[in-house]
Amino acid sequence: MPNPAPAKFLMQNGMCFAQMASVSLPLSEIPQFSADDEDVLPELLEDPIGLYLRIYRRHGALCRIRLGGTDALFMGGLEVNHKIWRTSHMWDYARSNIAFKEQIADDHLDSLAGPAHQKKRKILQPMFSMEMVMRFLPALNQYFLATMEEWSRRESVDFMRCWLNHLCRFRFRSFVQEPVSNEQIDRAAEWQFQFIHGIALGEARHQYYARPEYVAIHDEAMELFKGIGKARLEATDAPADCLTAVIENRRGLDSEIDLEALKDDVYMLTVAGIDNIANFIITLLSDIIHQPGLLEKVRAEIDEWDGEDLRAFSQLPVMKAIVLESQRVRPQVVATTASFLYPMESFEFEGYEIPADTPVFHPMILGQFLEEHYADPFKFDETRFWEEEGGLKKFVARTHGFFGGGAHLCIGKNLGLLQGPLLVAQLLKRYDLEGLPKPLDRPKVGRRDTTYLQKMPVRLVPRTS
Ligand code: HEM
Repeated sequence: MPNPAPAKFLMQNGMCFAQMASVSLPLSEIPQFSADDEDVLPELLEDPIGLYLRIYRRHGALCRIRLGGTDALFMGGLEVNHKIWRTSHMWDYARSNIAFKEQIADDHLDSLAGPAHQKKRKILQPMFSMEMVMRFLPALNQYFLATMEEWSRRESVDFMRCWLNHLCRFRFRSFVQEPVSNEQIDRAAEWQFQFIHGIALGEARHQYYARPEYVAIHDEAMELFKGIGKARLEATDAPADCLTAVIENRRGLDSEIDLEALKDDVYMLTVAGIDNIANFIITLLSDIIHQPGLLEKVRAEIDEWDGEDLRAFSQLPVMKAIVLESQRVRPQVVATTASFLYPMESFEFEGYEIPADTPVFHPMILGQFLEEHYADPFKFDETRFWEEEGGLKKFVARTHGFFGGGAHLCIGKNLGLLQGPLLVAQLLKRYDLEGLPKPLDRPKVGRRDTTYLQKMPVRLVPRTS
């Protein structure tokens, strides 16, 4: 049965409510896609985006679904993206992103909402601005040129771990300039990698996070972040880095600085998001190497570039189009929040009354695979972002969920978009890669793609042509 005619959302005084076009129907009247986990589990594991598309084709933007033992609502599509991202304050992020709160700090950005979230973003946002990321880009470039050279002298490197460690080492040497050993940093990077793979496990996370080897690196990482925060507060000659700037921001807002909150700031500046950038780099490289003809196109462009002018690099059109297509076809985070979203107040959608606390599954990247916007959507084809006159097309409005949206839009977006493609280009300018796995035909989506959990031995061979 088709859904009733949509009722329109209105925003007034920051609150979201629906225009009552008619009497709204109860939740139980919403069409049901599946009532049993077993009906969707195999597809969810093998081809999640295919499943979301099938649901959307059958029911449109809204239906009931049983997922992971929970009776939930599926809400997907362009209009849903728009509405959910415009009403970020309405959703209980502390509940959805509980793992961040439990494992890191009560004050962690992912699990804050409303004024507390706004305040924390105000404190941190300047450190992740385009200007700040650009300031550190030349140093990043130099650091990784030397690092890649060192990798190329080895028989092979465990690719994922190497990226994680060195992205993290660079942040520890630039954003937060503290004398921390490489071994400590590498263990903090490993903790982040293991932590992030548990955030979407629901109740099973408790068992996952109770593993002794995890507990050891978790506790060590927390001690490290807290120790750095404490030492910096007590320092008389603190370096003029991002941590000092964050402390100054906090002093302008707080009467007393809370050490737990500062611990999370240190985490944000040093370790947060390294897994996402590493994934982004590896999937980008994997596509360029394995999609027929793509490596030649990229090299024709980057071989003309001097390898030093970083502003000129950011204008290279082929690279730009490939980055856009990689974001489209290889999303790393499927859904808004680590689990379900929970509305903190009831609302109306498509003529139905949705009570507060109803679990909502929002696959925000669905629009990236709708064939009405992107023909043959699972095919990697960077030319879909070419304009006829040689310029670049943008994403179709509201289809782009790679970095999320609304008030919780990824704070590390600039870092990812500036660092990732540059490092990919510098590597391909100098080396051939052996042993890099092919991308999956149907993405299992970031953390469900266990390829990257395994060791990934890759060899960097200096280019001869
Ligand atoms: C290519 C790299 C990256 C991708 C694909 C990515 C993806 C995302 C996505 C999809 C969200 C929204 C999640 C949601 O709505 O629940 C998000 C939020 C977030 N990301 Fe990233 N991310 C990347 C890099 C980074 C980096 C480098 C950092 C480092 C600080 C970072 C930190 C965060 C934080 C703290 C949030 C929560 C923001 C908030 O709630 O206000 N991310 N990211």
